[in-house]
Amino acid sequence: MRRTATRRHYLMVRPTYFDVEYSINPWMDPRKPTFTEVAVAQWEWLRDLYLDLGHRVEQLEPRPGLPDMVFAANGATVVNGQVLVARFRHTYRCPESAAYLRWFRENGYHDVRQAQWINEGEGDYLVAGSRILAGSGFRTNAVSHTETQEFFGVPVVGLTLVDPCYYHLDTALAVLDDDTVMYYPRAFCADSRRLLEELYPDAITASDGDAAAFGLNAVSDGQHVVLPQAATGLIAQLREHGFEPIGVDLSELLKAGGSVKCATLELRAGSARSAG
Ligand code: ARG
Repeated sequence: MRRTATRRHYLMVRPTYFDVEYSINPWMDPRKPTFTEVAVAQWEWLRDLYLDLGHRVEQLEPRPGLPDMVFAANGATVVNGQVLVARFRHTYRCPESAAYLRWFRENGYHDVRQAQWINEGEGDYLVAGSRILAGSGFRTNAVSHTETQEFFGVPVVGLTLVDPCYYHLDTALAVLDDDTVMYYPRAFCADSRRLLEELYPDAITASDGDAAAFGLNAVSDGQHVVLPQAATGLIAQLREHGFEPIGVDLSELLKAGGSVKCATLELRAGSARSAG
């Protein structure tokens, strides 16, 4: 099957102050050394790759004292030019919301609001065609799913995460195009797994190893799928399905429990169905 790319618009935050200073997910071990210059070099590689693929990339200034700020996906959800800014679960990350509110207001977005309930942005909300898939279980409060559905006027499908290693939806599932996803079944409760099988009978499913390599933390433009290079099984499966996988090395960000998708917030100007 031939796949087609659409031009995307992303917001990213350079990992200038990246570090693992606390632990709010099982991947974070503050005793392990981190190398900020390496994180920056790997991140620049990802940003340049997006530019080479023809996408637009905006940058929000990082703030000292916010070591997880590189994970831009958590800052907001943007659909149809409407912006629902995150309300973080952990106090360490709470000050990030103000930076996003300000950036969107200063950059021509008119309908900008901070979520009332705990809502970690595109970490847990993934736009898939005319619906939004929404995670809960570890970070985003399931009550926020209704708020999100009402704010955007797009149906939200709730999915429950059960494995603490896959604490955000974007660590367990990636949207490849409007009708195609890949996911790690074991990250979901039995009911959510059944729902995913029903909605996406042709989905790509990930092995334990590929999920642990953060292979599902991927960004797709409909044709190119950017994902951690260690997810070799998924890379082969994506190729079989007609996508063009592009493996990248974000080993430093992995120490904080994040990778490609976590570092990328999509700015959608058009309807939920268009690329924006
Ligand atoms: N250390 C960050 C946290 O635990 C990683 C966030 C990863 N972001 C994501 N969209 N999954 O909050």
